Amino acid sequence: MRSSSKVAKIGAVLVSFSLLCLAHRAIAIEGFGNKEDYEFPENFKFGVSTAAFQIEGAWNEGGKGESMWDTYLHQHPEYTLDHSNGDIAADSYHKYAEDVKLVKDLGVQYYRFSFSWPRLLPKGTDNKKNKDGIDYYHRLLKELRKANLTAMVTLFHWDMPTPLMDLGGWSNPKMVDYFLDYARFVFTEFGDEVKIWTTMNEPQQHCYNGYGTNYFVPALESGGIGDYLCSHYMILAHAKAYRLYEKEFKPYQNGRVGITLDAFWAEPKNSIDPIDIEAAERYRQMRVGIYAHPIFSKVGDYPPLVRNIIDGNSRQQNFTRSRLPVFSQDEIQEIKGSSDFFGLNHYTTYLMSQPTVNDTWTIPSWDHDTFVRMEQNPAWPIPGADWLSIYPPGIRKLLNWIKNNYGDMPIIITENGMCDFGGLMDYTRVQYYNDYLYQTLLAMKKDYVNVEGYFAWTLLDDFEWTDGYATKFGLYEVDFNSPERTRRKKLSADNYRNIVMTRKIDFDYIKQPRMKKLPYQRNEENIV
Ligand code: BGC
Repeated sequence: MRSSSKVAKIGAVLVSFSLLCLAHRAIAIEGFGNKEDYEFPENFKFGVSTAAFQIEGAWNEGGKGESMWDTYLHQHPEYTLDHSNGDIAADSYHKYAEDVKLVKDLGVQYYRFSFSWPRLLPKGTDNKKNKDGIDYYHRLLKELRKANLTAMVTLFHWDMPTPLMDLGGWSNPKMVDYFLDYARFVFTEFGDEVKIWTTMNEPQQHCYNGYGTNYFVPALESGGIGDYLCSHYMILAHAKAYRLYEKEFKPYQNGRVGITLDAFWAEPKNSIDPIDIEAAERYRQMRVGIYAHPIFSKVGDYPPLVRNIIDGNSRQQNFTRSRLPVFSQDEIQEIKGSSDFFGLNHYTTYLMSQPTVNDTWTIPSWDHDTFVRMEQNPAWPIPGADWLSIYPPGIRKLLNWIKNNYGDMPIIITENGMCDFGGLMDYTRVQYYNDYLYQTLLAMKKDYVNVEGYFAWTLLDDFEWTDGYATKFGLYEVDFNSPERTRRKKLSADNYRNIVMTRKIDFDYIKQPRMKKLPYQRNEENIV
């Protein structure tokens, strides 16, 4: 964490605190007008998200097969920051009923969680189904129904069954068929109970970090090749699952199927420099457009800019064919329009500019293809993991960019949240949610972006992939040292509940204790 966000003299802080609160209100009033403008529409969907591998634990219980994260972390215990793994995690497999209660206590109507593919199909293939795993998700869904909560289920949140990873995972074209078998089985088994599905969670994070680099499992480090294969087949698998549902299940199950993409907002470092503006747009297309354009644009296929860059670089690098695979005409049509909503995960913003001679990347790689210098603004606070700095207007700009590029389709914010290093008095998280939700409201009310819902990430402190348990995103704390994995409510849970119950943001609901500075500075830039 940078010291600049910590250092402040108490007197100055108190003065600036009251001034900033006043300034905030003045700006807010100027931003809207009527009291109702601060409110979320009656039908706005509030929810909270989790993912199987990050909370369930019970890695080898009840007939579950291994996921590639289980296998890799057992073989490489040093891989995570704290040398931990997901064997027990938050133990939600056993504590699911308590967790449903926690969801209920937030006042939200929706719970987004993922099915563990290897818990349902231990080897990944549908010839052998796991009864205990099936029963587990039926029990969870029943508990949700009893609590009057609606389930939104993700089919793939990164826990690829190990036997399928051994065959190359998403770099193997046959994985599309295996995913389709899994999807068919899941729609058949659970389709009466689940009416909102997301096929894939964040193909970009999964493919770039796991296939392109070694930041996530499977740590293949196949930059500029493996990551594009992974993306290509994940997009195809998504579209085929969507079409399967549309044809065989939707007519009587009447549900919706979408995909969740993630995006940082890319801000030009110098907002009037055409080179930085171009760099930021290049990044957005390479990072988000590569997935969104085939699915959400009117013409389909990869964005022309992305196709040109990767084809051109591949030629220069003496590849016989482009490192970016090609969709057939039939596939382009099949993929286009294959999502009932745009699921969006957003956490942070980066500044983009043209690289200098000091910026070097492995060739080939996605980074080299993208050719953008990414940095954080030192004025933006970083409360936990170093990749996540806080810049609330980023979400409004991103929502507008999606609308401008892909039209007026419904957007569901399937994840948004921040991490710190723990503690129940999480004022920074309270402020983060207030400010990001406020920016979401601005996008809805001033820019007419069609945001249908918002899911906080995440319900509980969980297994944070490479960070292990070192960084915390939860609205509830989990004591990972206690065998019971005791849960305790954080301030941010109370605050989120108040927003959900009243359908509006009350910036004064959780008050900063006197003598303490605001967790991070509010200034005009990060308010409107
Ligand atoms: C992922 C989550 C993860 C969160 C915070 C998102 O990219 O979907 O699984 O915990 O970011 O790192």
